[in-house]
Amino acid sequence: METIRSLKRMQKRAFRHKREGSVIGFVPTMGFLHEGHLSLMKLARKRCDVLVASIFVNPTQFGSNEDLCTYPRDFTRDESFCEKANVDIIFYPEFESMYTDDASVWVNEEALSGGLCGASRPDHFRGVCTVVTKLFNLVQPDLAVFGEKDAQQLRIIERMVRDLDFPVEIVRGSIVREPDGLAMSSRNKYLSATQRKEALCLRRSLDKVVEQFKEGERDATVLRQVVVDLIASVPSAELDYAEVVDDGSLAEVEKIEGDVLMALAVKFGAVRLIDNTILYP
Ligand code: PAJ
Repeated sequence: METIRSLKRMQKRAFRHKREGSVIGFVPTMGFLHEGHLSLMKLARKRCDVLVASIFVNPTQFGSNEDLCTYPRDFTRDESFCEKANVDIIFYPEFESMYTDDASVWVNEEALSGGLCGASRPDHFRGVCTVVTKLFNLVQPDLAVFGEKDAQQLRIIERMVRDLDFPVEIVRGSIVREPDGLAMSSRNKYLSATQRKEALCLRRSLDKVVEQFKEGERDATVLRQVVVDLIASVPSAELDYAEVVDDGSLAEVEKIEGDVLMALAVKFGAVRLIDNTILYP
């Protein structure tokens, strides 16, 4: 396993592998890796010759009042995760080299980015699309794996790849959870003991929604209210959003007829967690 920090070297290496006919698999991350990231790497590993994982805490996807400075970082720990997943190259760009001071070109998705996380995080997905475009240009992947945990991000990246003709196959990886059901996240480590226990309300509310859905409930307002009520009953939790949206357009639905995404974001103090489930009629 090798770590590459220079943008030029990464791109040169990628072109060399492509000339040699190797399939490049890619897992972009912001580091502080966990089993969720690892599962994406294992998925990619099966389908490629050269596996690249990137670690870059991307400043352009954080709002000015968000946790860019305190986002957890531990490269040594990340290295051992990548080792476990049999990663060939860790692309760990030097922080200053990714954006020039006068960078002025952005990649902006305009249909799926406004709701859900985009509503409380304006410009977040513009930052994500821009950095993923840059990373794709540097790593030249044939396939890239993204997690269902960030369902909106995944759909936006799929749309970007479709609309801008990126020669990259996007592969979906399922959500990996802690044994008690909390979706793994780099941010979980910032929860206090009480918040950590109470954070189970995300999964519990989704379980309740699935249960009612299986019993035949198709009214989105009723299902959404299940989440709202459960989260309201948890002292340390503050609901950011709970939405039932069409799985393709991410537009709100009233009646569940096609596949829908039930997604929520909940704040525990400064820590914001997300989770989701897909309801298939
Ligand atoms: P990060 O939050 O580090 O996540 C990297 C990838 O891991 C994303 O595709 C995310 O969906 C996936 N992931 C996170 N938690 C997961 C879990 N519990 N189970 C399965 N997959 C999980 O998402 C980002 O970084 C950034 O926005 C990035 C795409 C790297 C652009 O900066």
